[in-house]
Amino acid sequence: MVFLNGQFIPEKQAFVSICDRGFQLGDGIYEVIRCYQGRPFRLGDHIERLFQSAQAIRLELPYGRDELAGFVNRLIADVTWDYADIYIQVTRGGAPRVHEFPAQIHPTVLMYVSQGQAVSPITLEQGIEAIIIPDTRGTLCNIKSVNLLPNVLARQAAAEAGAGEALFEREGIGVVEGAASNIFAVRKGVLSTGPLSPYTLPGVTRDCVLQLAKAQGLPVELEFLSREELLTADEVFITSTSKEVLAVTILAGQMIGDGRPGPITLKLASDYRALIKRECGI
Ligand code: PDD
Repeated sequence: MVFLNGQFIPEKQAFVSICDRGFQLGDGIYEVIRCYQGRPFRLGDHIERLFQSAQAIRLELPYGRDELAGFVNRLIADVTWDYADIYIQVTRGGAPRVHEFPAQIHPTVLMYVSQGQAVSPITLEQGIEAIIIPDTRGTLCNIKSVNLLPNVLARQAAAEAGAGEALFEREGIGVVEGAASNIFAVRKGVLSTGPLSPYTLPGVTRDCVLQLAKAQGLPVELEFLSREELLTADEVFITSTSKEVLAVTILAGQMIGDGRPGPITLKLASDYRALIKRECGI
């Protein structure tokens, strides 16, 4: 079953107009929430970010926070997978195509659940390879919008290079984030990640990791690092809802540290797992 505009219906009966502005203009926002044994992790944070994104694109959501959470919970009530991903997409709606906001328009709200893929133990143990590519995006990257063309092309470039992620490098700023992840580095015992800015998504996982680092008393600096600073870091890792905390052991063809996930990455990854266990019981 999927949720579409207030109704729970079979996926095969769920249709969206060809005039939908999400389809024609990329005029929409989304969220991805991981569920562990049927329990959504940090649902409140994801719904809050959906509201932030909606406000940033001047879209009024037709449901309140609690109502949305209720729909999500109903959608996953029968899910038996250990890992499931809830996808929420809200577009400005369907109307004859003009660029400006049409006067009479109702948002399209879609939610569905799919089976989630846990990162394999071997990948966790070895880390992944990432490439670095120029950031061709604009300055609305704090909005979780469905305008994902640069991210799609970046991930495809990574896949073609045999890598697991592509990191965006922005001229004059540094390496800001991944195609679908935030970046962290450890240098001389200090954890770094970019500050909240128009160049990155305020990741829910990033926020959890910053809280876990604080709880450990780990020194943290919120700064973008250059390509050189990342390449010479002791540890590099990415964070996202689906990848959790995952080491990058080869970056732009060079080994990071000794080429294996470092101790701080592994500790934060296991603390993150423990947090999931506390909140979702798995
Ligand atoms: N992507 N940066 C970008 C550009 C992202 O697309 C994502 C998440 C993140 C990490 O955010 P979070 O920790 O809240 O998942 C950072 C999701 C998973 C996706 O598009 O599938």
